[in-house]
Amino acid sequence: MKIVSVINYKGGVGKTTVTANLAAELAFRGKSVLAIDLDPQASLTFSFVTVDEWSKRYEQEMTIKNWYDAFIDKDTDLDLKQLICRPQRVNSEMRGILDLVCSHLALINVDLELATRLVGGTQRDLRNNYLRVHSRLRQGLDSLSRADYDYVLIDCPPNFNVVTKTAIAASDFLLVPTKPDYLSTLGIEQLDKHVKELVRTYNEYVADAGNADSKAIDPKILGVLFTMIQIRNEQPISAQRQYIEQVTRLGVPCFDCFIRENKTSYSDAPEYGIPVVLKRVSGKTYTDVRTELEELTTELIRRVSE
Ligand SMILES: Nc1ncnc2c1ncn2[C@@H]1O[C@H](COP(=O)(O)OP(=O)(O)OP(=O)(O)O)[C@@H](O)[C@H]1O
Ligand SMILES: [Mg+2]
Repeated sequence: MKIVSVINYKGGVGKTTVTANLAAELAFRGKSVLAIDLDPQASLTFSFVTVDEWSKRYEQEMTIKNWYDAFIDKDTDLDLKQLICRPQRVNSEMRGILDLVCSHLALINVDLELATRLVGGTQRDLRNNYLRVHSRLRQGLDSLSRADYDYVLIDCPPNFNVVTKTAIAASDFLLVPTKPDYLSTLGIEQLDKHVKELVRTYNEYVADAGNADSKAIDPKILGVLFTMIQIRNEQPISAQRQYIEQVTRLGVPCFDCFIRENKTSYSDAPEYGIPVVLKRVSGKTYTDVRTELEELTTELIRRVSE
């Protein structure tokens, strides 16, 4: 089971679009995939279930918010398995499995609550509380059998709050979609730095705690993935190429493939968004976009097994 968080604290860079399409394409190819929506905006959730279905079947008791709430309110463990749903419509197209843990708009409050759990009277309390909170999702995923899924894909919110950190601590890999522009590329260096700081602190606490329950973490940056690329003559326009080169020079791994900007394919607003890879639309534009997403999936499979 490979656990991959799709992360960038810059908003609107294509995290959710990439997560939904990767999940769909992997499942289409016969893999078992669990997609987890950690963003209160719940866009990943609504990529696979309708708002109606969500409010009837999942809103009350089957979202990731219920799971964090159980921990905050009662200090109990709700089994993550109880929150997993199998969206019917997408799964009817699959050889594999696409399961989902839905999000909830009120997840935004969970971050604040979790942050209050981090305080402690003594250094020891502080350390234990830090590890308990940050290892929350990691432990939840440990309760799944490693054979249940080939891939767990986590769609992170555009911030570096506690919930996002629980995703990083749970991950084997981080996939970082980014737009090739000034602010987005500035953020990559910061993200890399903050992830390293989180790993260092977490692992120092693990070493200090010295008990078998907490294990060191080692999330690797799988690659920066450039999205919303504008193509001219089969390659990114020069204004974007300069930022791509800049990021490459940082020494962070980058995906060979990239995702072009295509408003027609990505911004259709049907009743709910079906990932592009599953759309049965013909025409060169869709084919190019679909091919790119297929290449991304192939590269992801290769990178996680290297
Ligand atoms: N390659 C693309 N070409 C054109 N539009 C795109 C592309 N990828 C995503 N979009 C559109 O851009 C918007 C933002 O994409 P998305 O929601 O995937 O970003 P995000 O990083 O998850 O945002 P947030 O940080 O708010 O969660 C959406 O309307 C989406 O349809
Ligand atoms: Mg998103």
